[in-house]
Amino acid sequence: MSQATARAHANLAFVKYWGKSDHALNLPLNNSISMNLSAAYTTTTVNFAEPLRSDVVMIADDGTVSPSFAQRVSLHLDRLRALAGVTTYAQVTTENSFPAATGFASSASGFAALTVAAAGALDLSLSERELSILSRQGSGSASRSVPAGFVEWYAAETSSDSYAEQIAPPGHWDIIDIAVVVSSREKDVSSSDGHRLALNSPFWDARLAALPTTLEQTRTAILERDFTVFGHLLESEAMALHTIAMTSAHGARDGAWRSGIYYWTPDTLDLLIAVQNWRADGLTVYFTLDAGPTVHLICPARQEAVVTNAVRKLERQRPDRKWSLLVSHPAPGAHIIPLD
Ligand code: DP6
Repeated sequence: MSQATARAHANLAFVKYWGKSDHALNLPLNNSISMNLSAAYTTTTVNFAEPLRSDVVMIADDGTVSPSFAQRVSLHLDRLRALAGVTTYAQVTTENSFPAATGFASSASGFAALTVAAAGALDLSLSERELSILSRQGSGSASRSVPAGFVEWYAAETSSDSYAEQIAPPGHWDIIDIAVVVSSREKDVSSSDGHRLALNSPFWDARLAALPTTLEQTRTAILERDFTVFGHLLESEAMALHTIAMTSAHGARDGAWRSGIYYWTPDTLDLLIAVQNWRADGLTVYFTLDAGPTVHLICPARQEAVVTNAVRKLERQRPDRKWSLLVSHPAPGAHIIPLD
């Protein structure tokens, strides 16, 4: 086979990956735990073809990709070519189920789909662990999009020990993520820069010291389907990440000193406060956030309508708000899509 198509879902971290011990290999400083998201996925076709004189990377229905993205893809294909012992260039066509700049890390689903499609096209027979390790090198969080459902990615000193594994399959727990996209503005500080700057925070050591307990308790809460314990851990962990970010002093963007990174917009904060009040009104819902303004509302699936209504009511309080919602259930891992 020289061509294959694969699909991988984006994932949402409940315990976050923030800080690396090795930036070239994307080795994380701590384990992280996530869930694959059914509504957010990337479908990628890789076709290794002799006549090509360079890799060609395209977004389906659009065409253009930035040179830096194309280069990152090419670099990743080199890793797979080296494993297969070939030098053939490839045409890569990729498509996201979610619009760009919605606060979803398309790099996770993107690099997991690229890895699985390229391995398939090169007839490499790789284990889930090997696919996770390779995906990680494209983008750290992509390692977690390889296994299905609820997943943990291990921090390790060597590349071969830092991979993600399933904690529980997608059907284990009927919880959903209602992603509230409050802004489509591109963030000022990329995740990659955020990982570097995190260690500038005076609270960094405290976070790292608390994480083993957080990880243990989160894993157990998932396995026992204990939504209350899970919710408390989830929301506290999101605030820990953003406390680190907001105290990561830097002069990264334009040389001007900043005391920290603010990934939020005023709408983000309005939602965080509202969620806490909704709970006081009896709603079962908690939030988490990644490195962006999108608020992820986590609730039991049966609460979808009532939580969605509460979000829409809050949105209508200000006429300038235009939020979009994306609802996801726990999703499968990265997989090959058979040709028609
Ligand atoms: C805040 O995986 O995007 O979403 O390894 O540099 O590509 P790179 O970083 P990336 O970082 C994701 C950070 C996060 C938390 C998480 O997903 O765990």
